[in-house]
Amino acid sequence: MEVCVVGTGYVGLVTGTCLAYLGHSVVCVDIDERKIEMLRGGRSPIYEPGLDQLIASGIQRGNLKFSTDISKPVKESEIIFIAVGTPPLQSGRADLSYVKAVAQSIGRALDCERRRVIVNKSTVPIGSGNWVGMLVKEGLSENPAWLDKLSSAANAPTADLAANRRSNGGRPEDLFLVASNPEFLREGSAISDTFYPDRIVIGATDAYAAERLRALYEPIVEQTFTPPASAPRPADVAVIPVVTTDLASAEMIKYAANAFLATKISFANEIANICERVGADIKEVVRGFGLDSRIGPKFLNAGVGWGGSCFGKDVSALIDIAREYGYEPALLHSTVDVNKRQRHVAVQKLQESLKIIKGKTIGLLGLAFKPNTDDLRDAPAIEIASELIEMGARVKAYDPIANDACRRQYPELKIEYAADAMALAKDCDAIVIVTEWEEFRYLDLNQIGQAMNAKAIIDGRNLLDPQAVEEAGFKYRGIGR
Ligand SMILES: NC(=O)c1ccc[n+]([C@@H]2O[C@H](COP(=O)([O-])OP(=O)(O)OC[C@H]3O[C@@H](n4cnc5c(N)ncnc54)[C@H](O)[C@@H]3O)[C@@H](O)[C@H]2O)c1
Repeated sequence: MEVCVVGTGYVGLVTGTCLAYLGHSVVCVDIDERKIEMLRGGRSPIYEPGLDQLIASGIQRGNLKFSTDISKPVKESEIIFIAVGTPPLQSGRADLSYVKAVAQSIGRALDCERRRVIVNKSTVPIGSGNWVGMLVKEGLSENPAWLDKLSSAANAPTADLAANRRSNGGRPEDLFLVASNPEFLREGSAISDTFYPDRIVIGATDAYAAERLRALYEPIVEQTFTPPASAPRPADVAVIPVVTTDLASAEMIKYAANAFLATKISFANEIANICERVGADIKEVVRGFGLDSRIGPKFLNAGVGWGGSCFGKDVSALIDIAREYGYEPALLHSTVDVNKRQRHVAVQKLQESLKIIKGKTIGLLGLAFKPNTDDLRDAPAIEIASELIEMGARVKAYDPIANDACRRQYPELKIEYAADAMALAKDCDAIVIVTEWEEFRYLDLNQIGQAMNAKAIIDGRNLLDPQAVEEAGFKYRGIGR
């Protein structure tokens, strides 16, 4: 199928690239010329394991293209994805200005040759499917091909009028339908998540739109494709469930999923804070209650809190949606409050350990909001670094991937970037593990300790074995243990 993906970020780029791998003909569109230039050269502007190779093979096969111009790919495509950002406004409400601009441009660009399905893949508030439909129609009102079609339909002999209407002679729904197809991929394992999702959610008011999307995803649903080397098929993957539902429910499924996951982590952090006070170990506690099949062990790691581009903004947006309808979602407020408080736990532990922060050198291991990505959006490290700098500390940081992104995106943050963990340790009075990169599990603590000024580790992700760290002569503080 011919597909256009508008918005070439973490979601759009991975979606477009994977669809091309499956054999569809895909054009990814973005307004960011630098990104498109890089992509045309076969380089990914984001760090995502395995993505570079898939982009290169799509370009080589000739069915993955990149463009800054929306109108040609919209005309040539049967399925048009909207995958632009929906960042939070100050109020917590989702900023829909990018979605709006794209929906109107699609309306202006459509031709009348065939029926299209416009798919909201961005995470959008409930009702956005209908709203996008309205905006595309607004775009149509400036679309010469559509206006021509309308006037020829109006001028047709009366006998032809009914036939004309049936053959797309004046009804926008014959030209396009809007569907919702929320995305659940995780940065760091985005390709595998796209090829082997837990489920595919399709929201549509019209059976035709649902059927076309189902056809697009057929190779994934039936698992009929040959897996790429970078994303082998897990042994337990069989047919992928497809949840076909109405637009509002599809939109809500995405918010419910993220709100639940954020709540699960905040719950683990709440229990960790109590564990710490009563002398229990959160790792042991989670091992015990996570084995309950009704609960499950995932997303129960205590630490310095959740971050990233989605949890914070989606929970805030859901709170905003509830309020718009006169409902105060107490549990969601607590999820956010617990997380805000948790961000400060690392600094509190540094104070307990070092007493004086002013003039001390603190090393942050990890900047990205989670491992295997360079995404710094709402990353706890940024807040921790800012707080420490404000308190008068000298802050050093090392992230295996995100140093450059941080330098570029936060030029005002006076962080000294280190090339590796050893360079980071030099002269530090304490090290804080902020992101659970795998390599941090295997630090050479003896060498690290020798480079440091004083031997203290705040393990903000409970990554290390406390006993081993203490045996290496460090003061160790984890979260909830
Ligand atoms: N990042 C994730 O892990 C993730 C997971 C699931 C869902 N989502 C949702 O998917 C959506 C996209 O997220 P993302 O992380 O990929 O965002 P992103 O910021 O990485 O990418 C968005 C892209 O859209 C482009 N864009 C903006 N306006 C445009 C326009 N008018 N025309 C063309 N391109 C335009 C931007 O230049 C940018 O490249 C959001 O709603 C997000 O909540 C994200």
